Amino acid sequence: KLKPLIGPSILNADLSRLYEESQKLLDNGADYLHLDVMDGHFVPNLTFGHPVVKCLRSKIHNAFFETHMMVANPLQWIIPMAEAGVNQYTFHIEPISNVEEVCRKIKENGMKAGIAIKPGTSVTEIAKYISISDMVLIMTVEPGFGGQKFMEDQMQKVRWLREHYPLLDIEVDGGVGPSTIESCAAAGANMIVSGTAVIGAQDQAATIKLLRDTVQR
Ligand code: DX5
Ligand code: ZN
Repeated sequence: KLKPLIGPSILNADLSRLYEESQKLLDNGADYLHLDVMDGHFVPNLTFGHPVVKCLRSKIHNAFFETHMMVANPLQWIIPMAEAGVNQYTFHIEPISNVEEVCRKIKENGMKAGIAIKPGTSVTEIAKYISISDMVLIMTVEPGFGGQKFMEDQMQKVRWLREHYPLLDIEVDGGVGPSTIESCAAAGANMIVSGTAVIGAQDQAATIKLLRDTVQR
């Protein structure tokens, strides 16, 4: 059986305390950190880039870092992110035509390659790249902002992928928390990104555990 993994997104945390917030999530049972990188082109928002990720890595040595690259030119940031200590580089297929090249370069630089689609992109668009990638991310909100409403209609993509690829790591991201995790788990997602629901929780450890236990069942 696939391992359930919970990767909190620090996007809506107090980013002036990025290290403390990240360490707290890991101490509370996070399996990995989901770092949302936005370039103001692919999405109408900005966050942070490889210099910040590198600083975080200099204080957190062992945790698995996934960068969710919401950027127009994913090829451009592969080497800087690898040098910053990123473990998995997840990028959107929508803005580019050289998905194979990007995946190859990510792996050449020692990272795992994740491929992502927005809610409007069909699952067959991404299915053709599964054999050259390590994970698929099905967005459950329009990328760009934390705290949006979970899009239930995206679960049909997750179900389709799970039916066709029993061993594939499938990640969901956007509006995922205690009230939507059942749906994600039932559809077959095993990598769970959760931002505001975990960051704002009274009891972070209990929330992370609840997410994991629901996927495990
Ligand atoms: C959205 C980001 C997500 C998001 C998660 O563009 O990719 O990672 O911030 O936050 P919540 O769980 O609050 O939707
Ligand atoms: Zn994300």
